[in-house]
Amino acid sequence: MDTLTLTRPDDCHLHLRDGPALAAVLADSARRFARAVVMPNLRPPVTTVAAALAYGERIRAALPTGADFTPLLTLYLTEATPASELRAAKAAGLVGVKLYPAGATTHSDAGVHRLEAIHPQLDVMQDIDLPLLVHGEVTDPKVDVFDREAVFIERHLAPLVARFPALRVVLEHVTTREGVEFVRAARPGVAASITPQHLSLNRGALFEGGLRPHHYCLPVLKREEHRAAVLAAAISGDPRFFLGTDSAPHAQTAKESACGCAGIYSAHGGIELYAEAFDAAGALDKLDAFASRHGADFYGLPRNTGTLMLRREPVPVPDSLPFGDQRLVPLRAGGQLAWQVVA
Ligand code: NCD
Ligand code: ZN
Repeated sequence: MDTLTLTRPDDCHLHLRDGPALAAVLADSARRFARAVVMPNLRPPVTTVAAALAYGERIRAALPTGADFTPLLTLYLTEATPASELRAAKAAGLVGVKLYPAGATTHSDAGVHRLEAIHPQLDVMQDIDLPLLVHGEVTDPKVDVFDREAVFIERHLAPLVARFPALRVVLEHVTTREGVEFVRAARPGVAASITPQHLSLNRGALFEGGLRPHHYCLPVLKREEHRAAVLAAAISGDPRFFLGTDSAPHAQTAKESACGCAGIYSAHGGIELYAEAFDAAGALDKLDAFASRHGADFYGLPRNTGTLMLRREPVPVPDSLPFGDQRLVPLRAGGQLAWQVVA
């Protein structure tokens, strides 16, 4: 099988940034995906419905002519988010509220310090059925960085899911065996998104012949056993696992630095990278549901009707891409993708 026709997929976790960065990256996602759940970690963060809707307008305005792409907007949760804002978010069609533990990742300093402090917000979200999208890592410096997801699940996520039994929850960018097992065993309404890098790379990729800042993201790449568990979940056909690239562009200078930013840019291969991983696992027949159905069903959105055709034919990846007045180094820079989008 050298061509593959998918239902037009959705990216359930995407960073589009703003301004010139948004203009530089948006076409890559819009070419592949019909919709994307757009993360709210701008500076300043998107903490109000008005800010989210204005951001949505800027995204639409930056789309290439003729593009068919709908941003699915989210709100950045803080300890001060009022109930009225959550109700307004639901009414305005925002699809979820993102929980960043303060200090866990890029632009998370306005996030949540104590989960107990947001219990009132979670009560409201449970009532109005507004999903909670979780960056699932503890920030405790005593916890090894490779264990932060597993510890977050045990200390915080499992109790939260039990305390709010009707709250829909996405464990974003799941990276561990513990994460996969948690979702599999969880009550209905708990799901996880999966990135291309956590499907195809283990933590060895951070140190391949030297320090590799372009393989650094959060949650950080894990041991091979975890990559294998994440891949097994993705290809299992289980509807609780769906595509979310977590494509997170940073300027080359911000990555290649004494203190490089976390985030991997993958939107240029936003579906191709998954096709490769599914193909290598002999599971191409499972890609359509993972990429095009499970996410839509979780969010209660209609499934897309268009199609996207891929061909198994290598295509080179440039060393870097334009990024406003800077450059952006994409995943696989200087290498190639085994699949390409043809229509
Ligand atoms: C993301 C970013 O750069 O915004 N970085 C990352 O490494 N994934 C933030 C996030 O999703 O954690
Ligand atoms: Zn992210």
